[in-house]
Amino acid sequence: MGEKNMAGGLRLERVTQKIVKVEAQGPGAATLFFESAIDVRPGQFLMVTDYEGGERPISVSWADGELLAITVKNMGPFSGRLCAKKPGDFLSLRGPFGTPFTPVPGHALLVGGGCGIAPLHLLARELVSRGGAVTVVNGARVSADLILGGWFRGLGLDYRETSEDAGERLTSVALAERILSKEKIACVYAAGPELMMDALRKILKNLPYQFSFERYMKCGVGICGSCACDPTGIRICVEGPVLCREQVEKLTDFGVYKRDATGARIHFRRQPAT
Ligand SMILES: Cc1cc2nc3c(=O)[nH]c(=O)nc-3n(C[C@H](O)[C@H](O)[C@H](O)COP(=O)(O)OP(=O)(O)OC[C@H]3O[C@@H](n4cnc5c(N)ncnc54)[C@H](O)[C@@H]3O)c2cc1C
Ligand code: FES
Repeated sequence: MGEKNMAGGLRLERVTQKIVKVEAQGPGAATLFFESAIDVRPGQFLMVTDYEGGERPISVSWADGELLAITVKNMGPFSGRLCAKKPGDFLSLRGPFGTPFTPVPGHALLVGGGCGIAPLHLLARELVSRGGAVTVVNGARVSADLILGGWFRGLGLDYRETSEDAGERLTSVALAERILSKEKIACVYAAGPELMMDALRKILKNLPYQFSFERYMKCGVGICGSCACDPTGIRICVEGPVLCREQVEKLTDFGVYKRDATGARIHFRRQPAT
């Protein structure tokens, strides 16, 4: 991984990495750490496989020049296997891939839903190191699924978390709206369920925003077209996963549908946003 492995602009080389540490994140998620000094930008992802079936894009949640980590939520067979890995197990990684978040000067509001909070940690670290004010909203349907709170608190920023089964039972979007009514925010950065980001977009009026998208990925490097969005053909693995307001506003599939491995449309189920 890293610049030296680039071929024709694409990072094609696979690297087998030993897991050196596993941090449980509540009952349904885990962070896997590797020894790696690769240069990764906030929002970028790796293509990950354990050679037992499939390869998946996973965002980088931690990178400090010595350790690199991914944080995985148990959603199915593949992610379930990853969550059960132990120190000493190996994974094969390609990347990092994709267009990262672009830090904007001024007060930043970061909104994460579920495991979407993972890529926002790297962004928060960078924004704090640049000296800007940073407010983070971490939301989940149930409080047991709120992850990485300790990491954000450790950065000394304004950290808020909310779930729909405790406290004021606010969605992350409702909490973000409350913050936006009181603070002068320069840019909103979000990652999480697409319906959460769609609900967030509707309250942002003219504010600049950057959203991190998930689409079905096969190659991860812009060749197969499986992650292309309608009608622009924006590839989430290359032009994304982070898209800015101007790009998002051109999409007709945003908040409506994504595609599965065959290219068939999978419509998002309308339910209260997390
Ligand atoms: C840019 C990007 C970053 C991501 N970052 C993270 C992360 O940090 N942590 C995390 O837990 N998950 C992340 N995901 C989701 C992850 O890639 C898997 O979708 C998820 O782990 C479920 O896989 P599964 O096979 O266990 O579940 P399954 O039950 O097989 O699938 C559950 C869902 O995952 C989707 N999915 C399955 N295969 C793929 C694929 N190849 N590409 C995209 N979606 C797929 C399915 O369409 C389905 O909606 C990210 C996805 C993208 C596109
Ligand atoms: S996953 Fe192949 S073009 Fe994006």
